[in-house]
Amino acid sequence: MTKVFNNNILQGKVAFVTGGGTGITGGVARAFAEHGAKLAITSRKQENLDAMKAAVEGFGGECFTVAADVRDYEAVERAIAATVEHFGKIDIVVNGAAGNFLCQAEELSANGFGTVVDIDTKGTFNVSRAAFEELKRSRGQIINISATLHYLATPMQIHVSAAKAGVDAITRNLSVEWGRHGIRVNGIAPGPIEDTEGMKRLLMPELREKMMRKIPVGRFGRIEDIENAALFLASDAATYVNGVTLVVDGGSWLLGTSLT
Ligand code: COA
Repeated sequence: MTKVFNNNILQGKVAFVTGGGTGITGGVARAFAEHGAKLAITSRKQENLDAMKAAVEGFGGECFTVAADVRDYEAVERAIAATVEHFGKIDIVVNGAAGNFLCQAEELSANGFGTVVDIDTKGTFNVSRAAFEELKRSRGQIINISATLHYLATPMQIHVSAAKAGVDAITRNLSVEWGRHGIRVNGIAPGPIEDTEGMKRLLMPELREKMMRKIPVGRFGRIEDIENAALFLASDAATYVNGVTLVVDGGSWLLGTSLT
């Protein structure tokens, strides 16, 4: 990644990142550690956490791992408590844990719909709620990873669209309710990011060409585009930014290219 921020912009901060083992949120977690933050990551799968811990420690960063399912409030509370015991505080929460698959609405079971809403929406609330006292103490902040799927309509993504619309509502509500405690709450809505597993699976060559023509800036997004947006929001450059979901998609959703 080409570094556009100073290495130390998050020095002294502790970041708790859900879904921080892999994908876009894994990139954000690693970028935070590269910019001085002490990292705590949680995910359902310990093996994903181990790989990120090794990577972060490889460049001299600190990484604490704790396996938890964000749908389980008590497990989330335990993960937050373990992080505070380990690092003494939490300054930044990134809600990145998410579930996704393509499925037509008429084929999707009630449990399939509910599972994604539980991971994305309820998980975002659970982690934010469980971290509230710590964030109040540190006058910290939350970054919710969202999407642009629900700005228009995205076939085969009704579950994720509904879930991310809920995440955006949480971003706005908490920014208003918790602003008075010094807690900022923002979101990031990535557009089509090419170097993710999901996109690699989806992007057959014909579809890739078709989509490319509808991306105003003429290229697919990269994970580092999202890392840089997260670094900006987490930094002192954004202390007056609150309640915003920053769209990082090259202008794609305006042309109806919100495939993520
Ligand atoms: N198409 C349709 N329905 C699906 C599905 C798919 N590809 N994948 C899961 N579901 C449904 C299941 O059928 C089940 O519903 P049912 O009980 O009515 O059959 C429900 O979703 C729960 O599935 P299950 O696998 O038991 O849930 P889980 O909690 O173990 O995992 C996911 C849920 C979404 C995380 C899992 O499907 C998954 O691993 N997806 C890929 C990884 C991923 O999403 N990564 C994040 C990228 S943003």
